[in-house]
Amino acid sequence: MSAAARSLTRTPERQPIEPLSLRRVCGLFTTGVTVISTGPSGRAEGTTVNSFTSVSLDPPLVLFCLHQQSRLHGLLQESGGFTVNFLSGRQQPLARHFAGKRPDAFADVPHHFTADGLPALSEALAYIACTTVDVHAAGDHDIVVGEVVELALPGHGEDPLIFFDGSLGPLQTAAGRFSRAGEPAAPARVS
Ligand SMILES: Cc1cc2nc3c(=O)[nH]c(=O)nc-3n(C[C@H](O)[C@H](O)[C@H](O)COP(=O)(O)O)c2cc1C
Repeated sequence: MSAAARSLTRTPERQPIEPLSLRRVCGLFTTGVTVISTGPSGRAEGTTVNSFTSVSLDPPLVLFCLHQQSRLHGLLQESGGFTVNFLSGRQQPLARHFAGKRPDAFADVPHHFTADGLPALSEALAYIACTTVDVHAAGDHDIVVGEVVELALPGHGEDPLIFFDGSLGPLQTAAGRFSRAGEPAAPARVS
């Protein structure tokens, strides 16, 4: 081990990491916002999640982390799958709605069922329906891995909803502040 590596690991006096501090620092890592929906036989429940990530293209795998106390666990197991619904900038109220642990949260929210019978938000920016292939326990969360079975882009072209520093808001893609990967950036505007 090099001297530099040793100096990074030799921290006998280090303090325990406070959960709130960890949450505050991780909140500076900007993410999109999803609603994970699931339910067997025509049932639909969902919860707001920002821990989504894509994992593999071949085979097509994605993951999210779900708190072990989440009421979604039983339904996830029963249905054998889930849908990851990406929220658009105008769906900020839905992010709060689905984070609120309310029963029957889908009652007034436009939704339909995928070919595999999984609930999906009909007005999401995009959604990915998955079959659950692995669940790994990790501290107070489970890492849920899904194989992608269906893709859709109902809100293609809309701005996404963003979570940063504890706040939710639309990503402003107008005026060339952000360009899509592979497209030339719009010229900077000088006012
Ligand atoms: C922006 C945002 C992101 C969240 N991300 C997660 C997440 O990644 N995993 C998780 O278990 N809960 C996450 N939550 C909390 C859940 O939405 C929910 O409030 C909590 O899990 C308890 O409710 P449940 O029983 O419906 O899951 C998030 C909440 C918000 C507002």
